[in-house]
Amino acid sequence: MRRPDSAAFAQALAAPPALSSQPASLLSDEQLDALDHLIEPLSPDQLIWIGGYLAGLASAHRTGTPRLAPAPAERDDQSITVVYGSQSGNGARIAADVKAHAEAKGLGVRIKSMDEYRPSELRNEKRLLIVVSTQGEGEPPDTGKELHEFLHGRKAGKLDGLRYSVLALGDSSYEHFCKTGRDFDARLEALGGERAHPRVDCDVDYDDPAAQWIEGALAALATTPATAVLQAPVARPVRGNVTPLHSKRNPFLATALANINLSGHGSAKEVRHLELSVEGSALSYEPGDSVGVLPANEPEVVAELLDALELDPVQNVELGGESTTLGFALAHKYEITTLTRPLVEKYAALADAQALRDLLAAENSSDLWQYLRGRQLIDLVTEHPLRGIGAAQLLSLLRKLPPRLYSIASSHRANPGELHVTVAAVRYESHGRSRHGVASTFLADRIAEGDAVPIYVETNRNFKLPSDPATPIIMVGPGTGVAPFRAFVQEREAIGASGRSWLFFGDRHFTTDFLYQREWQQSLKDGALTRMDVAFSRDRAHKFYVQHRMQAQARDLYAWLQDGAHFYVCGDAERMARDVHQALIQIVAEQGEMPVERATEYVQDLQRSRRYQRDVY
Ligand SMILES: Cc1cc2nc3c(=O)[nH]c(=O)nc-3n(C[C@H](O)[C@H](O)[C@H](O)COP(=O)(O)OP(=O)(O)OC[C@H]3O[C@@H](n4cnc5c(N)ncnc54)[C@H](O)[C@@H]3O)c2cc1C
Ligand SMILES: NC(=O)c1ccc[n+]([C@@H]2O[C@H](COP(=O)([O-])OP(=O)(O)OC[C@H]3O[C@@H](n4cnc5c(N)ncnc54)[C@H](OP(=O)(O)O)[C@@H]3O)[C@@H](O)[C@H]2O)c1
Ligand SMILES: Cc1cc2nc3c(=O)[nH]c(=O)nc-3n(C[C@H](O)[C@H](O)[C@H](O)COP(=O)(O)O)c2cc1C
Repeated sequence: MRRPDSAAFAQALAAPPALSSQPASLLSDEQLDALDHLIEPLSPDQLIWIGGYLAGLASAHRTGTPRLAPAPAERDDQSITVVYGSQSGNGARIAADVKAHAEAKGLGVRIKSMDEYRPSELRNEKRLLIVVSTQGEGEPPDTGKELHEFLHGRKAGKLDGLRYSVLALGDSSYEHFCKTGRDFDARLEALGGERAHPRVDCDVDYDDPAAQWIEGALAALATTPATAVLQAPVARPVRGNVTPLHSKRNPFLATALANINLSGHGSAKEVRHLELSVEGSALSYEPGDSVGVLPANEPEVVAELLDALELDPVQNVELGGESTTLGFALAHKYEITTLTRPLVEKYAALADAQALRDLLAAENSSDLWQYLRGRQLIDLVTEHPLRGIGAAQLLSLLRKLPPRLYSIASSHRANPGELHVTVAAVRYESHGRSRHGVASTFLADRIAEGDAVPIYVETNRNFKLPSDPATPIIMVGPGTGVAPFRAFVQEREAIGASGRSWLFFGDRHFTTDFLYQREWQQSLKDGALTRMDVAFSRDRAHKFYVQHRMQAQARDLYAWLQDGAHFYVCGDAERMARDVHQALIQIVAEQGEMPVERATEYVQDLQRSRRYQRDVY
């Protein structure tokens, strides 16, 4: 491949000549105008990328190679390895962005999910970028558990000569904010790696910090960026990683077609089935993906907060360079319920609240999390009053209102143009107030037929049906965890899959909480679902859960696994998923007549080979 003329190219970057001074014989006036129009809004990086791209096109034209052939991901000392650990897809998308940016800069790069990356490869790495989220209570995502464990174990050797940087994804409303990213960062350093660029800990609004990290980390790893840009293969547009048209920044306004309470009369729960029209959108999804909903805060909560702070809802504030009212900003753009440590820190300073400072400084950080549990911003404001705060100052304390994810409960093949979700309305009492979950009650209480719901799709490649439709599947989905399995069963019926399917469902009471009961019965009758076992937890004297049903059917369950079945779990992360995991190990140990250690390895192997996938929250 011919390289662009280095000297001329470097000069072009340093001081691009005015286009009008280009020789008239090369481009017509119209072409120059069009080019001017195209490049005028571009950033320096984009100009560099276009420079490389055009040179590549010219070279390809000369040599007759096809346009837009995939760039070879050559591995040499200069190349960068991007390893990501992601549960619900954010980290995977950012890692793909890293790759795209690296290629645009002409850097050699390869990308691997943590579960596809052999830990032994680490000792050969010279330039490594890690993107990883934190799950559970400060735990790695499922795909990152093994690498995390390896790095923290005895087998991890010295990593002298490694230059690395870590992007940690998390949510500051969790006690162990970005813990997994911090773990990786600290461990790579302890093993002799050199931190080439500081770790960035991202909160829920991660787009900007992630973009800055990508820039900084790539610049740091391309030791001599100019040389790397000039000598590396010519950058090409990244295909197959097309940014979806609709995202949390540009949601699609779906029209609600139905909003039905699935919970029977007398149930203590309220689980809603929503059908949204996605007709005419470019949204694309597969069973296992989730939909992101951009909710609005409850008007009463906004009003109460403004009242307590003696702020005028109609006063103007600036939002992304535009003017709007404070009331609108608080209703649609800012998080005004969930408390996070950074918010409490800023609030304590502003309100000069010693009690809050003490909590923040307490040696035992669980004191702070104990205090925060069940409290919201309104509690801070009433318990530690703040006088004379301005609108802009208030907004500077707050995070952007994060979207909420819901498993897509329908298959687009079975329901073209429609997207269904199953939503448990979160309502509880705490500290003398009645509280409503922001998004779940936005959907439950404020969305009627014909209303618009801003949505986008979150692809989750870690929760997917087997590619071979003949493969048996076992699905464990108590409560709203059953939602994606409705999509799985619909999909398999729509494509005429021959594989057997087995659903474990659980909820509180048979009479009021059997979600989609009739549909399951129909699917069993039609053969779309081979088998179903249910566990109603509050219909007996003792709690009876899905894992008890699994244990009661242990022999068959193990036989299905031995036949190659894929095993899926969806729903509550805190207790259910952990207990189901333990039950699975126990079943394998008993039925496979092996010690628990081997059964644990068997289950780990299932995870490694993506035959055991979880989508838990
Ligand atoms: C990949 C994924 C898929 C999901 N799929 C679904 C789905 O299909 N269906 C579904 O219903 N949900 C699903 N969820 C959960 C969903 O995204 C929301 O988290 C859920 O609806 C609550 O959001 P909210 O805005 O209503 O509540 P929020 O306003 O976020 O409030 C929830 C918070 O309130 C507090 N809280 C709740 N109960 C109590 C209590 N009793 N005492 C004290 N504090 C309490 C907790 O801090 C909790 O985190 C999914 C989540 C993920 C990540
Ligand atoms: N505040 C509310 O009123 C309210 C009500 C429902 C759900 N929620 C929230 O809404 C979300 C979704 O609720 P959901 O409908 O999916 O689920 P859920 O109501 O929390 O649970 C569904 C079923 O799982 C059972 N379960 C509890 N612990 C389990 C364990 N360790 N192993 C296996 N099964 C277990 C429950 O039994 P038991 O409940 O009998 O133990 C219930 O039968 C959750 O985040 C939940 O916290 C809030
Ligand atoms: C069940 C669950 C548990 C989580 N636990 C934590 C946590 O302990 N600490 C944290 O900082 N973030 C936590 N998060 C937030 C995620 O790290 C965050 O949403 C991240 O952007 C997810 O990235 P991913 O899609 O690449 O997995 C949790 C999210 C979920 C759904």
